[in-house]
Amino acid sequence: MRRAMAVFVTRRIPAEGLRVLAEAGGCRVQQWDSEEPVPRPQLLAGVAGKQGLLCLLSDRIDREVLDAAGPSLKVISTMSVGFDHLALDEIKKRGIRVGYTPDVLTDATAELSVALLLATCRRLPEAIEQVKNGGWTTWKPLWMCGYGLSNSTVGIIGLGRIGQAVARRLKPFGVKNFLYTGSHPKPESAAEFQAKFVPLTRLAEESDFVVVTCALTPDTQGMCNKDFFSRMKKTSVFINTSRGAVVNQEDLYDALVSGQIAAAGLDVTTPEPLPTDHPLLSLKNCVILPHVGSATYATRATMSVLAADNLLAGLRGERMPHELLL
Ligand code: DGY
Repeated sequence: MRRAMAVFVTRRIPAEGLRVLAEAGGCRVQQWDSEEPVPRPQLLAGVAGKQGLLCLLSDRIDREVLDAAGPSLKVISTMSVGFDHLALDEIKKRGIRVGYTPDVLTDATAELSVALLLATCRRLPEAIEQVKNGGWTTWKPLWMCGYGLSNSTVGIIGLGRIGQAVARRLKPFGVKNFLYTGSHPKPESAAEFQAKFVPLTRLAEESDFVVVTCALTPDTQGMCNKDFFSRMKKTSVFINTSRGAVVNQEDLYDALVSGQIAAAGLDVTTPEPLPTDHPLLSLKNCVILPHVGSATYATRATMSVLAADNLLAGLRGERMPHELLL
């Protein structure tokens, strides 16, 4: 970099990532140094005249932000694998490059998906509550029973990096069949699990466990709706660790209350955070986590370093370690 590049970092991120920016030299960092999201006015002011923006999935980067940044903005680097918070059409029009953080969070997110699946199908939060509130009176043959993975059919919506990593972890539990759906068949990825590519409707009908790991796009938005849940078995368990908006939450609520499906585990919701009086939180058969898929110290540190590396490479006009090709 010949002259100092000005960048805006929208949150307190792991020290490892900030160090990369600090040690790069020629990079002037302005940061919203808080655990809480940058308020919109401060985001608009912070990005003004900057060449680089390092943001998070909770920052909506739309035309207003891009206008506030002005023509100086060359690179947006998001510390996330998801990019549904970025107005890509507008970004592309302005010739801004985008970096993101795939791969480095795959293991952590797959691990969390499996943990959530087990917690949901074996009713762990409910069982823990019973121990605390005196509901555990004796050993009862029909009490606190759930559903197990052995001999089951698991349907994966989106057999990408995370979907495959989930399947890889679930296989040793004795899963009998893997089904998957998506925009097109992926024979090479599916071979490891002998996973069968099926339409969404068939996946809903045949799966004992449905795991959503696809990206949020116009095609996947609201994809798990009334029709989808009505096709699922009454004994089936639904897990979502991708984005809340893939699911129609009213339809999910109805399916859970009516017993149309057995249970749901969600790491992602609409909105985030979910209001504490949201109807889904009143249900025993719905386990909700606060979007912690990638939340291990090591993973978050690595994500921050990758986001910083992407940003610097973009500012230097070099190849980014992970660029989103627009
Ligand atoms: C992402 O990066 O998009 C995940 O949802 C959070 O790590």
